Amino acid sequence: MRLTIDDVRQRFQKHLGGEPGSVYASPGRINLIGEHTDYNGGFVFPGAVEQGMIAEIRPNGTRTIMAYSIDLKDYAEFSLDDPAGPKASHFRYIFGVAKEMEKLGVPVKGFDTAFAGDVPLGAGMSSSAALESCFAFAINDLFGDNKIGKMDLAKAGQSTEHNYLGVNCGIMDQFASVFGKKGNLMRLDCRSGEFEYFPWNPKGYKLVLINSCVKHELAGSPYNDRRNSCENVVKAIKAKHPEKKIETLREATWDELKEVSGDVSAEDIKRATFVLGEKDRVLAVCDALERGDYETVGQKMYETHYGLSKEYEVSCEELDFLNDIAKECSVTGSRIMGGGFGGCTINLVADELYDNFVKTAVAKFKDKSVKEPIVIDGVIGDGSRKLA
Ligand code: GLA
Repeated sequence: MRLTIDDVRQRFQKHLGGEPGSVYASPGRINLIGEHTDYNGGFVFPGAVEQGMIAEIRPNGTRTIMAYSIDLKDYAEFSLDDPAGPKASHFRYIFGVAKEMEKLGVPVKGFDTAFAGDVPLGAGMSSSAALESCFAFAINDLFGDNKIGKMDLAKAGQSTEHNYLGVNCGIMDQFASVFGKKGNLMRLDCRSGEFEYFPWNPKGYKLVLINSCVKHELAGSPYNDRRNSCENVVKAIKAKHPEKKIETLREATWDELKEVSGDVSAEDIKRATFVLGEKDRVLAVCDALERGDYETVGQKMYETHYGLSKEYEVSCEELDFLNDIAKECSVTGSRIMGGGFGGCTINLVADELYDNFVKTAVAKFKDKSVKEPIVIDGVIGDGSRKLA
């Protein structure tokens, strides 16, 4: 069931009372291709989804935020002046965004808020970016005269992950949430920040996500470990080529990767091999899209899955199983989506194979893992906005 503005308004009234506030929304995202390339200065290809976070917010003139999580039925009060901030992550995102917006010069004050979302948690669809972007957008509107540009709003969410949640993520999720546009994917160059909208209307195909419901949890070390591996390889290349301008793996070549294979761990090389391959795949997908060649797009998605599973090692048994089912059902393209370690696969399916694929995937997955996977149609929606 899709979350409505009335649901949020009712709970706000019940738990916080008084005059109504303003209501904002921000979506989760999908990503066609370009995984773990954002923090490596590469390209990503995300789009916002229709599912997202909705928050009602009313400034209260104090320095305290009074927040009610509708989904978790949890209430907390925390001061903008307490450097420690709240412990629970759902409140920490809000606190972190408020502090990051203060750093950008916005005179943030306290507020009352109730918020809820319909992005499945842990599905790799960026429920946390939806929450961050929703509050960054709202704070800019309520306290900042909308003076902060959209890219800086996305960066405030990203810095929140870095500084308050300990996840050294890239910019893709928050970018997609803030900039999303109905019916469009976006190709973002994460090094320059330049991006283009790509109308997404693959005639004869559908995008469908199959959520394994294996919880994806980025907080903690595995995600940051992958990023460290990439940085180790960059350092090693720099040491061999002090004259070379290299900040990220975006600037690294296959030859250089070979050259430093004795200087870093075999694991680091394996991780970087994935990233260099993914860099080539994103560009191949862009070319293929221009030709309307969805077979090549799909083939690259399978290659990405292989790389995420065997080289980057962020897959799990259930996701590999879903990928195998897609192959068996002649699905054009299928891969893990997002950070990995659980969550969903994204599948590009020919219209006529859709019903059979979805039925088979659900039945076989249920048989194997007892869990029922959730099928989510990949419909591309709008980015951060004020609803009322
Ligand atoms: C998570 C991170 C993103 C990105 C993806 C992998 O979603 O938040 O920045 O690195 O993983 O592509």
